[in-house]
Parts: sequence; C-alpha cells; structure tokens
Amino acid sequence: MKAVPKCWAVIPAAGIGERVGSSIPKQYLQIAGRTILEHAINPFIRNHRIAGITVALHPHDVHFEMLDIKSSSDKVHIVTGGDTRAHSVLNALDSFEAKLDENDFVLVHDAARPCLMMSDLDQLMDVCIQHEVGGIIGSRVTDTIKHVENNNIVNTLDRENIWRAYTPQMFRLVILRSAIQKALKDKIGITDEASALEYAGYQPCMVEGDARNIKVTTAEDISLAETFLQQEFNL
Ligand code: CTP
Ligand code: MG
Repeated sequence: MKAVPKCWAVIPAAGIGERVGSSIPKQYLQIAGRTILEHAINPFIRNHRIAGITVALHPHDVHFEMLDIKSSSDKVHIVTGGDTRAHSVLNALDSFEAKLDENDFVLVHDAARPCLMMSDLDQLMDVCIQHEVGGIIGSRVTDTIKHVENNNIVNTLDRENIWRAYTPQMFRLVILRSAIQKALKDKIGITDEASALEYAGYQPCMVEGDARNIKVTTAEDISLAETFLQQEFNL
C-alpha cells in the first residue's frame, strides 16, 4: 500500500531586500506588530497537514534568532541559503533527504509574502495532493497587457490566458529538486519553482487565489500589505 504523502514547507528567507532599500532585510520589517517573515510562516505553522518547515537564511543572518518562531513551534528548522532564490530553495530541499518518501510534497512560500490566507493554502493543498506534479496559487490579470519594445507598443496580448504567479507553489519534492538542479545546470534563469518544472517539461496546475497575496518588493508594498492584513486578518 502506498504511504499517504507528507507535505513539507520551505520558506526562502535568505535575500537582502535590495529593492525595498531598508537598513535590515525586508522580511524582518514589522507590519502590524509582527515581522513580515512571521506573517508569512504563520499559516504553515497553524496548518496541521504541514509536517515540517525549513527556513533558508542568509549566512550572516542575525535577525532570525531574535524571533519566537523556532521556540513557538518544533516544526521549524533552518538551513543556510544560497546566492539566488533557487539555490536557497535547493539547499532546503536537500535537507529533507533522510525523512523523505518519493510521493511527498513540498510547498515553497516567499518570506516576503505576508498576506497568504489560510483558505487559499487549504485550497492549494486540496487540489495539488491529487495532482501528478503539483501546482501554484495565482490570479487572473485584470489590466490590459502590452508588449513594449524601446518604449513603443508592439501589440496587445490576449489577457484571457495570462495569470500572475504567487506562492505557495506545491510540488512533488523529488520532481522539484531534480527540475531545479537541471535548470541551474543549464543556466536557465528561474524566478519561481513552476518555471523549473515547466523547463523540465511538466505542466503544473494553477489554482486561483486572493490577489492580495502580494510579495513585498518595493517600499510602497509595505503599506499596501499592512492595509490588506488589517482588512482580512484577525491581528
Ligand atoms: N531569497 C532567498 N535567497 C536568495 C534571494 C532571495 O531565499 N539568495 C528569498 C527572499 O528572502 C524572498 C524570496 O526569495 O523571501 C523572494 O525574493 P525577492 O523578493 O527577490 O527578495 P530579495 O532578493 O530579498 O529582494 P531584492 O531582489 O530586492 O534584493
Ligand atoms: Mg531578489
């Protein structure tokens, strides 16, 4: 009999947040009384279907140990991240080796995405657990999308089939690990896990989620995230 697949989580948190331009990495900035990283990890700590969480930290990180995250949950482990997000995720995936079954899933979620709703996490897990490869949370594009070259519009894309890609992204862990290894070996730039899977020839599924699940990328995103958190979450 096949073992029931376990679900693990990986939080890449080894970036320096250059585009936000604050004195500390953006995942450690406070929004509504907690760091962005704490908001991001919270749904995974609370979700009973998540067996363990690995956070990838910058080699010189001095902020994580000041948080209560590790002491508040024995599900949380840390690894050292790498030079790019993909390397950080790969380091975390490698750390699962010993406890892994080949059917197990992993959910990768950006440390800089503090507004993930529990209901979206549950829905992603319900859909992907049935899927051969896995899938991601995203939302439909509502703006008209232009193809622009040298500041001139070349044409308008058919937005019917265009989606924004968010995290979490949930895949069979062994498939994701070999897909990232292949993309890195072939020097293919991947900005999310799904791109690695696509490059390896898979077609992950897309699960529609709340568009407020933004990644804090620039300083303006911080007040936006704060507004969303206050609207929707019981802080
Ligand atoms: N990340 C990581 N390891 C890296 C680079 C990024 O774990 N070497 C993580 C970030 O901490 C973040 C997520 O990947 O949670 C998404 O990356 P991004 O938004 O680009 O964050 P930063 O790289 O920190 O920001 P910037 O690109 O502005 O420096
Ligand atoms: Mg970056």
